[in-house]
Order: sequence, then structure tokens, then C-alpha cells
Amino acid sequence: MKRIRSVPMELRDVLRSIRMKAKYALVLGFLVALVIIGKENKIISKVSDKLYLKQLPQNLFEMNSTDSNVDYTENGSLTSLSKLDSAFLKIRSQLVNITLQFGGSNPFLEHPKTPRRQILLMATTRTGSSFVGEFFNQHENIFYLFEPLWHVERAVSFEPTGANAVGSAIVYRDVLQQLLLCDLHIMENFISPAPENHLTRFMFRRRSSKVLCEDPVCTPIVKKAFEKYHCKTRRCGPLNITLAVEACLNKQHMTVKAVRIRQLEFLRTLVEDPRLDLKIIQLVRDPRAVLASRMVAFSAKYESWKKWALEGAAPIPEDEVQKLKGNCESIRMSAQLGLSQPEWLRGHYMLIRYEDIARFPLQKAKEMYRFAGITITPQVVEWINKNTQASQDSNGIYSTQKNSSEQFEKWRFSIPFKLAQVVQDVCKPAMNLFGYKLASNLETLTNRSISLLEERVNFWVT
Ligand SMILES: *[C@@H]1O[C@H](CO)[C@@H](O)[C@H](O)[C@H]1NC(C)=O
Ligand SMILES: *[C@@H]1O[C@H](CO)[C@@H](O)[C@H](O)[C@H]1NC(C)=O
Ligand SMILES: *[C@@H]1O[C@H](CO)[C@@H](O)[C@H](O)[C@H]1NC(C)=O
Ligand SMILES: *[C@@H]1O[C@H](CO)[C@@H](O)[C@H](O)[C@H]1NC(C)=O
Ligand SMILES: *[C@@H]1O[C@H](CO)[C@@H](O)[C@H](O)[C@H]1NC(C)=O
Ligand SMILES: *[C@@H]1O[C@H](CO)[C@@H](O)[C@H](O)[C@H]1NC(C)=O
Repeated sequence: MKRIRSVPMELRDVLRSIRMKAKYALVLGFLVALVIIGKENKIISKVSDKLYLKQLPQNLFEMNSTDSNVDYTENGSLTSLSKLDSAFLKIRSQLVNITLQFGGSNPFLEHPKTPRRQILLMATTRTGSSFVGEFFNQHENIFYLFEPLWHVERAVSFEPTGANAVGSAIVYRDVLQQLLLCDLHIMENFISPAPENHLTRFMFRRRSSKVLCEDPVCTPIVKKAFEKYHCKTRRCGPLNITLAVEACLNKQHMTVKAVRIRQLEFLRTLVEDPRLDLKIIQLVRDPRAVLASRMVAFSAKYESWKKWALEGAAPIPEDEVQKLKGNCESIRMSAQLGLSQPEWLRGHYMLIRYEDIARFPLQKAKEMYRFAGITITPQVVEWINKNTQASQDSNGIYSTQKNSSEQFEKWRFSIPFKLAQVVQDVCKPAMNLFGYKLASNLETLTNRSISLLEERVNFWVT
């Protein structure tokens, strides 16, 4: 595995976080005086307990491998730091109340506008994440990146299991962290061929990111050259990454769609990064539908599945079945962690089913925006209306736009029942959690009057 600048990045974070705590300590001095007046002895003793924990971050400087890093985030100093943070949050609220009581103004009101937010759309392939990503791409004040980790996966080869799985998760996470901070230069380590002078013609799916194809990031073409990932609506010069960074900083919010982040727990350092206010939206879809869709999109990979289901040929290789199981389980485990509402994740996690978005696109878009604390705009609403309804033009001819509530169940008629059964066998725990009903026979699978979805209301935001 290529070693990336991950350790220095971690240290920078820690340093910054320590500086933050120093800031808190000043505030604390003020507070202690006030609290004594307020006879809040209990809190003082609690605070001094917490302050003792400030010794711990030193340990972080001793670490020198990215892997040992994981242990620290799981039960070492960072846990303590987060406890410290929550203690300070309480104190801060108290301080605000006391100052207000004394006729002062709220000392923490620094942002008159909505504070900067980052949204991570965490999904897997064929779950409709490109479609849902558009809900954010269409917002005038969001900088949207489509699958930037694609470059990372190509540049660094990872083994699917063992230590390298941990290694890859860390690299993905650290790159993601920089991207959410608008440091798009980090991409230059992974884009191939390597950018020169911060210019590249090889930014994956550039056209899927509106901002990268608009002024001022879309520069005039100086000379014609082959461009693999060009913009759709207009031709632009090669992508100037420095310009993209500036555009990112000029937008109020940031969204990244990623299908390569597997475990929610790895995102903890991002959620706790004081420079970020990360909102994670995990998007899931019925695994039977995902398989049906993959069999079309990646047809060659599923030859043995089709042959077995349709012609009774040799069984599907066991490792492929195990891979399917592994995918379902990692999605389920992330969701289970999110829904269990650990303190560090509270207010930062939302689970959403593709099927609900397909049936109630506008309503679900509004819920996602409400969760993110960002105002939805007419432009987003218009895009959703235009792209989710089969509208009739004046000649009575249907446009090519899909009627999404009609489309989402099509897989039921295309997947051989035997394959649906395989998925049900290995993905049952995930399907139970998300409310996807098992079909016991072909008749149930293909009978439109029988719903395979359990209705779940407001069970998803934590
Ligand atoms: C850290 O670095 C020291 C010296 O470079 C080395 O002896 C030690 O094994 C390293 N520890 C880990 C966990 O890699
Ligand atoms: C880390 O976790 C292990 C097992 O959960 C526990 O025994 C140990 O005391 C923990 N260490 C710290 C520093 O909390
Ligand atoms: C501060 O005041 C608000 C509203 O009056 C109240 O909800 C909150 O609990 C108070 N915080 C503390 C720590 O007393
Ligand atoms: C890229 O954009 C930056 C910022 O506007 C500019 O300074 C730089 O000259 C541009 N690079 C090239 C090669 O045009
Ligand atoms: C889309 O399809 C659903 C289900 O068949 C139907 O109820 C709805 O009216 C359709 N919407 C439009 C705009 O055609
Ligand atoms: C489909 O299911 C409904 C409700 O269970 C049932 O009434 C109907 O007969 C079924 N249709 C077919 C074609 O089996």
C-alpha cells in the first residue's frame, strides 16, 4: 500500500483540536468565576475531572503507524476528547444563559448565516446514489463532488480482506477529510496521468459536478485536446484544480457522494473534526434490486449466476456468494451503528431507502435537507419534479424521463426467482433491518399487488 500523508494530517488535526481546547480553557476561566457566583459546585468538580484528561493527547505524538491510529480513535484519547467536548458543550450553554441573564450578548454567536455544512452521501453501487446526488448537485450553494475516491481506488491497490481493508478505509477516510475541507489538491496524488501545474483533463466524471462545468471553473478552451471526462453542456479547458478549490471555498456547503466508504465507524474522526460539521446520509436499497441492476450493468461478471439460474449449469462460485453476503453485512453493520445512536454520531447520521426516495422524491429530499440544516431551493425542487414524473408534452408524447415510482419495482420482473432466493438467504439480516420483505415464491415476487416493502416512518434520522 502506498503511504499517504495520513499521519501528518492526523497530527495537524490533533494540534488544532488542542488549540481549540486551549480556547475553551480561557472561556472556562471566565466561567468558573461566574459559576462560583451561581453556586454550581457540582459542575466545577466535573469540569476539573474532565480537564485532567487534557494530558492524554500527548500520546498521539508517539504513534507512527496508520493502523495503530485506529485503536486510538476507537478507545484511546479521542474518545476522551469527545467526552471533553460534550462536557464543554454543556458548560458553554450554561455560560450563554448566565451572560444573557446579566444582560450581555451571546459570545458564541459568530455565524449570522447558516454555518458551513458537509454532506456525505454514503452508498454502494446501483443504489440510485447518482440520482440522489443530483438533489445536492442542483443546489446553487453546494459544491458537489461525484465519486472522487474512484481515483484513489485506481491508484492504490487494496486487498479486499485483512489488514489492507483497514488500510484502504483509512486512506479513503483521510482523502475524504481533505476534500470536505475543500483541499482538492489532495486528488493530484491519485489522478492518472498526474496533473501538471494543477491542470488535469482526467478528473473522473467532471460533468457530474455542476460547479466544475460552470464559470469560473470552466475556462475557455485554448487548444483542442482529447478529454476523457469533458463537460456535458459546454466545452471547457482542462480542470484547474486551484480554481476548483476556490470555487469550493466560495460555496457555502459541500457534498461528496461515495460508494467506496464501507464502515461508518471509520468516519468518527471526521464527525469529531472541529473544522467540519459532517452530515452522513446512508443510502440503502433492496439487495435483490441491486443484484438485478448489477447483472445488467456489469453483465460479464454475472455470467455464472445467469447460467446457473436459467440453464441449471454449475452452481455460483462460493466466494462470489460470500462477497454478496459481505456487502450486505457491512451495509447492515454501518446502519446498525448509526441507528444505535452513539453519542458521537448524534445529529450526524441519517438512513434513507432508495425505494422511499423513488416513491416520494420531493418529500424525502426535503427531509434530507432538513436533516442537513440546509434550505432547499426552488431550483432543486424544479429538478426533482422534472426528473421524477413522466410528463406529457403538448403532442401527447411521453418524455424520456422516468416515472420514478413506476420504475423502482421493475427488478421484480427481471430477476430469476432462484437468484432472488440466493440474495434472501445471505442478506436476510440486512433485509429485515431495512424492511425488505422476503418473497417465498415466484408468484409473490411478481405480483404487483403484494408489496415487498415494510413502511417505516421517521425511524431513520438519529
Ligand atoms: C514506531 O517507530 C519505531 C522507530 O521508528 C519502531 O521501532 C516501532 O516499531 C514503530 N511502531 C509501530 C507501531 O510501527
Ligand atoms: C480499550 O479497550 C479495551 C477493550 O475494550 C479495554 O480493556 C481498555 O481498557 C481500553 N483502553 C482505554 C485506554 O480505554
Ligand atoms: C439555557 O437556557 C435554555 C433556554 O432557556 C435551556 O433550554 C437550557 O437548558 C439552558 N442550559 C443550561 C445548561 O442551563
Ligand atoms: C489556475 O487558477 C489559478 C487561480 O485562479 C491561477 O492563479 C493559475 O494561473 C491557473 N493555472 C493555470 C495553469 O492557468
Ligand atoms: C407514476 O406512476 C405511478 C404508479 O403507476 C402513478 O400512480 C403516477 O400517477 C405516475 N405519475 C405520473 C406523473 O405519471
Ligand atoms: C396477487 O395478490 C393479490 C393479493 O394477495 C391476490 O388477490 C391476487 O389474486 C394475486 N394475483 C395473482 C395474479 O396471483
